[in-house]
Amino acid sequence: MSEHSPHDFVVVANRLPVDLVTPSDDEPPQWQRSPGGLVTALEPVLRSVDGAWVGWTGTADIDLDPFVEDGLTLHPVRLSESEVAEYYEGFSNATLWPLYHDALVAPTFDRRWWLTYREVNRRFAEATARAAAPGATVWVHDYQLQLVPRMLRELRPDVTIGFFLHIPFPPPELFLQLPWRKAVVDGLLGADLVGFHLPGGAENFRYLTRRLFDLPSTHRRSEGGRIDLGTRNVHVDAFPISIDASGLRDHSLEPSTALRAKQIREELGNPEIFLLGVDRLDYTKGINVRLDALRELFEDGALDPYKTAMVQLATPSRERLEAYASLRNDVEREVGRINGEFGRVGSPVVHYIHRPVARDELVAMYAGADVMLVTPLRDGMNLVAKEYVACHSDGKGALVLSEFAGAAAELRRALLVNPHDLEDVKNAILAAVRSDDPGLTRRMRSMHNQVMTHDVDRWAHSFLGALRAA
Ligand code: ADP
Ligand code: G6P
Repeated sequence: MSEHSPHDFVVVANRLPVDLVTPSDDEPPQWQRSPGGLVTALEPVLRSVDGAWVGWTGTADIDLDPFVEDGLTLHPVRLSESEVAEYYEGFSNATLWPLYHDALVAPTFDRRWWLTYREVNRRFAEATARAAAPGATVWVHDYQLQLVPRMLRELRPDVTIGFFLHIPFPPPELFLQLPWRKAVVDGLLGADLVGFHLPGGAENFRYLTRRLFDLPSTHRRSEGGRIDLGTRNVHVDAFPISIDASGLRDHSLEPSTALRAKQIREELGNPEIFLLGVDRLDYTKGINVRLDALRELFEDGALDPYKTAMVQLATPSRERLEAYASLRNDVEREVGRINGEFGRVGSPVVHYIHRPVARDELVAMYAGADVMLVTPLRDGMNLVAKEYVACHSDGKGALVLSEFAGAAAELRRALLVNPHDLEDVKNAILAAVRSDDPGLTRRMRSMHNQVMTHDVDRWAHSFLGALRAA
């Protein structure tokens, strides 16, 4: 089948799984893996079925025909410079992202951005309508494309449409602030199945359809929620996303991984305790929470900075937005402060890397770290937590995990913390560094089993099975 012929299965997401990046003026553009958990989860899913992926290349004003890259059929959608500013940076990431994450940063409501969001969603719907074969299954993803289900149904009533939200769906009091709340809910109701990470998200959505449209609905444990539109039903349920757990476990067990993990420890100066943080540089991730906790533990004398090393990987993200630029300043100031107060020449305490790292390197870090710090103030799921656990079939290591990450619903045996309570975070770190505690091994083994048996394959099958049934 050529990349131009229509497909029976189509994934639609704001970003393609690869970004077009130009390293410097005299180098040609190259494809590079896109950031974020959505791509981590969906890439193996699309590889296992023969389908196409509709999305943006990550660069403005690029016009490309459908093409195949690394075995995946990609259908690029063009965004102009002003659409990137108004649809992507504006409505998606300065209105919806903060609103859906507990308004950690005040959301901006801008009528112009909304119009551009609508226009761009229409373009995605049209590109999808062209890519989908008669009777195809289309799976639309995330907050950037909430109007696509309705628009696509109008263009192509023959296709089956699923929608999955990768971030939290907020409580009604927050969602109702959105001036375009009815249009967003109506957009999602164009789907046959709307999926969320957690049952609470599905409940919030069902409540809003009643409140805003007076739609009757039911909920049964066995079949989830069903909203009755009169002419058809929309199914609503929770599907906690996951990772390619066995692929990652196998990668962590390769001899080259163990070798690199040992080297990394040596490069860190053979600390007794190696703590790790891995995030996109986003204000939802609570990076400063863990840095503050660490600094106070050094100040209190509860942890010895000479015996401790922390690595914080922070992928650059949405850098032109003020909230992200100011977060970067705050994180870098705190890293500098800790190293200034507790580091030595040639041996800082916190090693901060503001770049994406290669997969091999990341897996070696996961495998080698004694403690993984995942402290978001709010997170839809957090795949990093699951990735760390998948790399610990050895039962070693400890996971400090925020209660406000979706992953906490499954990883109940993590050292769970309230990231707003610094004493709680400090105590959890102290519990996590007791590597001779057999309780930690039991916790890790139980979490490892959970992740191995609830992988991304199971997630995709369960969503697509429910979509077929719907
Ligand atoms: P989000 O989707 O909000 O970015 P997740 O934790 O769900 O958060 O997913 C992040 C994904 O990005 C994970 O698969 C993780 O391995 C990857 N990742 C995060 N930071 C880095 C980094 N510095 N280098 C390489 N991969 C990273
Ligand atoms: C989160 C979102 C994704 C997004 C990713 C990276 O995982 O749920 O939709 O793609 O972050 O963010 P970016 O803005 O760089 O696409």
